[in-house]
Amino acid sequence: MPPPGSASGPGAAVITDPAELRRSSDHARAGAMTVGLVPTMGALHAGHRSLIRRARAECDRVAVSIFVNPTQFGPGEDYQRYPRAFAADLTLCAEEDVDLVYAPSVETMYPDGFATRVRVTGPVTETLEGAFRPGHFEGVATVVAKLLSAARPDRAYFGQKDAQQCALIRRLVCDLDLGTEIVVCPTVRDPDGLAISSRNAYLSPEARRQALAIPRGLAAACAAYRRGERAATTLIHFAAERLADSPDLVVDYIAAVDADTFESVGSLNDRCEITIAARIFGTRLIDGVVPGAEEGLAVGDRGVDPSGP
Ligand code: PAJ
Repeated sequence: MPPPGSASGPGAAVITDPAELRRSSDHARAGAMTVGLVPTMGALHAGHRSLIRRARAECDRVAVSIFVNPTQFGPGEDYQRYPRAFAADLTLCAEEDVDLVYAPSVETMYPDGFATRVRVTGPVTETLEGAFRPGHFEGVATVVAKLLSAARPDRAYFGQKDAQQCALIRRLVCDLDLGTEIVVCPTVRDPDGLAISSRNAYLSPEARRQALAIPRGLAAACAAYRRGERAATTLIHFAAERLADSPDLVVDYIAAVDADTFESVGSLNDRCEITIAARIFGTRLIDGVVPGAEEGLAVGDRGVDPSGP
């Protein structure tokens, strides 16, 4: 649990009040400093750390928000058991020289009488994750709109791992004239290839072994793309073959989509994404690649070689 009020110590200052976040950004801008925001739900790991490092490299002031957002979890999802590790999160933020941690309570974010929902419409929120998790993207859009309006950062940093979330946030920022530059950072993977996620903590060794079919499937599709294959059905077939190696993996979808609109494509170009969502013993994992992007994905004997063959 975040401490009440605000505190300054050797690490980042912790604040819990949106007015204070705004004051801090106003103060930075008055001094001609740029502000970077990294929105998170905490339980920070190497993926979050990469976003923070990018923000640190590009901005004068770096704020990290830590808020497990109840409105983006559906009924029966893992809101209650979602990992919370505030003390460790503060240590990581201190290590990365974060200036400010914004950790509001649920009551601060959604006080009595709160009645505004931000809903981005169209395929970007209605397909894939949007279809499998009704209400999820409305919760994400609402909280991100609140974070961006309170912090008014010059840049905000998001992970390519949640590519559909990135597409919806770009849409939201453009449509609401929020004026923040959205920076999308590459997916950080464990050496075995699994995309790092706070939810990986739920995986037993056997679940994790079977989950590796996901990056292997994506790598197989990337390899075929590099060989010149562009047909979505063929690339999806290569990925599906790998997923079938794991008998307990329940695939919600494998799709080839335009990275901006999230509309399905029949033939891929360098701006298209192959995305997978699957469940293993009750834990839902999502992952994706842009096969035409420079940082490819290839599976070797010891896992995934991020540079490709
Ligand atoms: P969370 O899952 O904590 O992720 C925060 C940010 O870290 C997201 O932009 C996510 O894409 C990025 N991220 C997660 N794993 C990553 C990895 N392995 N490599 C690179 N980046 C990674 O996404 C959310 O929180 C929430 O929906 C949020 C945007 C904070 C709104 O509540």
